[in-house]
This record gives sequence, C-alpha cells and structure tokens, in this order.
Amino acid sequence: TPSGSLTGRRVVISAGGTREPLDPVRFIGNRSSGRQGAALAAVAAARGADVELVAANVDAALLPDGVRVTAVETTAELYDVMTDRASAADVLVMAAAVADFRPVQVAGSKTKKTADGSVAPIELTENPDILATLATGRRPGQVVVGFGAETGDAGGSVLDHGRAKARRKGADLLAVNQVGNGQGFGDVPNHVVVLDASGAEVGCVEGSKDEVAAGLWDVIASLFTD
Ligand code: C5P
Repeated sequence: TPSGSLTGRRVVISAGGTREPLDPVRFIGNRSSGRQGAALAAVAAARGADVELVAANVDAALLPDGVRVTAVETTAELYDVMTDRASAADVLVMAAAVADFRPVQVAGSKTKKTADGSVAPIELTENPDILATLATGRRPGQVVVGFGAETGDAGGSVLDHGRAKARRKGADLLAVNQVGNGQGFGDVPNHVVVLDASGAEVGCVEGSKDEVAAGLWDVIASLFTD
C-alpha cells in the first residue's frame, strides 16, 4: 500500500465530551468540542479507512462526511459502544474527553430549590477508564491511541504528566496536548507530543487540528505490522 494509505483499515474514533446527567435538564460536562476527533475521522476516511465516529455531544455541523456516526451522551454509553466495536477494529482512538466521575443519584424530575435555602451535595462515583480497558484487551496487531490533555502545575510539566499517563494507560500511543489558557479546546491550533506506552517520545505534530490529524495518522500507520 502507498505510504499513508489506510485502505481497508477499520477505525473507530471517539470524539467530543461525555455528559453525566444530574436530572432531566442538567449535567456535568466538559468543554471538548469534538473537533480533533472529527478531524481524525475525516483524514482516516480520506486515506481509505472504514471509519466509525462515536460522537459524544458533538455539534452536527462538525461531523465529517463519509464516516458512520454513532451518537452517545454518557460515559457508560461510550464504554458500551467502544467495547462492543473493539474486537473488529484495527485502530481504536479515544479522542473524547471522558468524565472521570458521574453523579450517584440522577433525579427523575428537575431538582428544585429548597424552601430553607439549603444546598444538597452532589455525590460522585468513578467512571470506568475506557482507554485503559481497550489497551488491556487489545489483540495482537491492533493499535490503541489515547489523548492526554494536560496543564503544567507544581507537580510537573505538561510532558511529565503526559509520560506518567502514558505508562498508566498502556495505550500504544498517547497524544499529549496542552490545554487551558485558550489552548487545546475549540477552534485553535494544537501542539501534540506523541508518546509510546513507556512514555518515550515517538513524534511531535503541530498546527491546525487537520494538520495534527494528518501527522497522527502518519505515526499510527507506522505501527502497522501487516
Ligand atoms: O486521564 P485522562 O482523562 O486525562 O486521560 C485521557 C485519555 O483517556 C483520553 O484518551 C480519554 O479519551 C481517555 N479516558 C477514557 N476513560 C476515562 C477517562 C479518560 O477512555 N474514564
């Protein structure tokens, strides 16, 4: 196959951000637009892959042509779809921003203010780690890719946190990008460092989300063994 071709590869990509309901009208969510995952899906389709985009709350205008789209809302739904598709996929990409926690109680009707002004706490429970689950269960030759949105802090740099995450998750590749201060989320250029499961740097891609998608597919395709 020509270099960069994804002809015949079966690719499943998650994109967007999961929402965890509190009641019928409220949720805990995040600011992921789904643009990076949508760009990855568009590039993969253009290179000949068979692509399913599992879209968590992605604006319909961002969904590319030429890919199958499965819509999900919650982490539990995303988990079910990704684990269902896993065995048939050649490449699994977790570009979605997944809620780490979900409310224990989901009210059946809209929560009201109390007469005495008291505020009920929201009890949270941990969601499953989908990427770690996919990485643990992967079959030989399958490529599992994750993203790590990081901010530097007193505990370490963006890359320090990324390396620790790469080792923890066990994916073949972890694309680490800096977020916050107007970077990473939304329609802005991305700077992505690609790490392997040991935390070693295997590539670096910069530019628009389309350019980052193209560069990431080059790195992913370099891992194919057949
Ligand atoms: O730990 P963190 O959320 O920063 O890890 C980011 C990577 O892990 C992303 O690829 C994201 O899709 C994935 N993830 C996941 N399940 C979770 C949390 C994150 O698959 N519960």
